Formats: sequence, C-alpha cells, structure tokens
Amino acid sequence: MEENARLWDVFLDVQRGLPRQGPGNRDSTSRALSLCGDLPENPRVLDIGCGPGMQTLALAQELDSYVTAVDFPAEYLDQLKTCIEAAEVMEQVEALAGDMNALAFAENTFDLIWAEGSAYIMGFAQALEAWWPLKKPGGYLAATELVWLRPEAERPAEATAFFADEYPAMTDVKTTANMFRDHGHDLVGHFTLPDAAPVWRQL
Ligand SMILES: C[S@@+](CC[C@H](N)C(=O)[O-])C[C@H]1O[C@@H](n2cnc3c(N)ncnc32)[C@H](O)[C@@H]1O
Repeated sequence: MEENARLWDVFLDVQRGLPRQGPGNRDSTSRALSLCGDLPENPRVLDIGCGPGMQTLALAQELDSYVTAVDFPAEYLDQLKTCIEAAEVMEQVEALAGDMNALAFAENTFDLIWAEGSAYIMGFAQALEAWWPLKKPGGYLAATELVWLRPEAERPAEATAFFADEYPAMTDVKTTANMFRDHGHDLVGHFTLPDAAPVWRQL
C-alpha cells in the first residue's frame, strides 16, 4: 500500500503541469467523434480516466453535451476544473473521483463513453467488457489503445523487452480491432494517432 502511494507520488510529480497525459490532440478527438455518426442532441457522455481534461473540454464543446469526467487523484480533477472554468463550460462537466474498475453508474446510462489513454490500465478487453453495459443501446464507446505498429520481426528488442514487462497484453491494430467483434460488438472505425499527436506538442 505504501509502495503504491509512493508510485502515485512519483507519477504525479512527473505529470505535474502537463496539459495532457497521453498521446492525442484536439484534431484526433474530433476525428474520433466524427465516427460516432448518429448521437442524439446534447448526449450524455462519460470520460473515463479524464486526467487534466483536454478531451473532456473538446467533448463538452463539440457535442454541446453533459460530460461526467472520472479520475483518481484530486490534483487532476482540480486541473480539469480550472480548464472547464477557463472555457466557461462548468455547467456541462461534472468532475468525479472514482475508480474505473468499479464505476457506480447504472447500465444504459450514457450515449457515449470516452477513454483516451486509460483503457490500458484495466487492459483493453477487460475495459471493453466492463464499460460496454454502461452505454445505451446504439451508443458508442471510443477508446485509444497502445498497439504495435510494426510486425514482430521489425520491433526493436529493447521496446519488446520493455513492453513484455510493462504491458504484456499489448498487441497489434488488427487484433485490438477484432476485440470488439470478439465481444459481440460492432466496430464503426479506427485510426492510428498521427505523429503530430504526442503527449503535449499539439493540443
Ligand atoms: C495516461 S492518463 C490519460 C489522461 C487523459 N485522458 C489524457 O489523455 O490526457 C491515464 C489516466 O487514468 C487515470 N487513472 C489511473 N487509474 C485509474 C483508476 N483506477 N480509475 C480512474 N482513473 C484512473 C490516471 O490518473 C490518469 O489521469
């Protein structure tokens, strides 16, 4: 437990002040949103592992929606609040402290579930399985995931060894995309984040 608390301290220290904590940018959030074709007006949205909330803001603004944004550390939720206050969308965003492994929402609640850079924490397949019932029938679940872009033979040995330890479940684009079908869900589309969308270079 103490070790866990220490790890969180280090993690928070490293991430402190960054506007984003994972790969992505506004264009990529918009592109993913454009795949969610027939959302109702003012959709109800859940943003899981929202961090400082750049994508939360994009969702609130672009969809004119009500977004429930969930994360662990109070520090991130404070950063999110500052961000939505500055953008004057406070009435559209609820910042909640919660655990993505045990979300206390009723089934069929959300039109759209969003997870940028956070599904890997549970494992993509596990997250898909756990979160899918929270969305309404016909709703969408959009998530980014770490994948291998090169075939196995072309991967740098150092990277292979690192991810074998850190994220052994990581696989390629096709296998990740197939996880939707494997769980009985339709996949409306996917794309690879561009090189122009690293952690903080472009917002
Ligand atoms: C890589 S960051 C992505 C943050 C944000 N979506 C972004 O792209 O900037 C992953 C986020 O998941 C959060 N997180 C980690 N474990 C969590 C858990 N069990 N429940 C809720 N959030 C969690 C972290 O605090 C962090 O903000």
